[in-house]
Amino acid sequence: METKIAVLASGAGSNFKALVEGDTGPGRVDILLTDNENAGALELAAELGVESKYLYPGKYRTRFGIKEEKIWAEFLLDRGVGLVCLAGLMRIIKGPLLDAFQGRMMNIHPSLLPAFPGLDAQGQALNYGVKIAGCTVHYVDSGTDTGPIILQNSVPVFESDQRDSLAERILVKEHRIYSQAVKAHCLGRAVYSRVVR
Ligand code: GAR
Repeated sequence: METKIAVLASGAGSNFKALVEGDTGPGRVDILLTDNENAGALELAAELGVESKYLYPGKYRTRFGIKEEKIWAEFLLDRGVGLVCLAGLMRIIKGPLLDAFQGRMMNIHPSLLPAFPGLDAQGQALNYGVKIAGCTVHYVDSGTDTGPIILQNSVPVFESDQRDSLAERILVKEHRIYSQAVKAHCLGRAVYSRVVR
């Protein structure tokens, strides 16, 4: 059976595009939701013929207002969305949206988690001096970039790398593993790590 996917993005939307164009098995991107009226992802959605919508996230900068998070959750539930994919959503989800979609919400992060959670993961990796970087798709829990890991992929870090060159190399891998993870989930075959705390 088909799974309706909502992609939540704040920025350029290249992962959103990859999910629309990639092989997601029985999953189909139904709508793009954004908290940023100027998100590049909105233009991409128009080009790709995918419905998109801006929803007010509340007055905070890095999280939702409780009332607004409830509105987002109700919107997605009413629409019959079965899987929520965070793709560069620069906002923490902790409340009603997480409760409504626990186990049915994924995130992509540009590091080999649990290393370098949070903002500017690529810059953190370079500053640390790692020789291998990468990306992770994981289910979302109430932590920041924590939650059971579904897929990861790695890239080498070169001496000559700047933040942007590394980010670009990681992004190529992000586009690949995100649709693979979504496909596995929609087929009921996502194998994930147990997170022990
Ligand atoms: C991607 O690199 C994604 O992994 C990252 O934002 C970028 C969005 O790019 N997400 C995070 O850092 C979340 N913690 P995109 O808008 O082109 O998909």
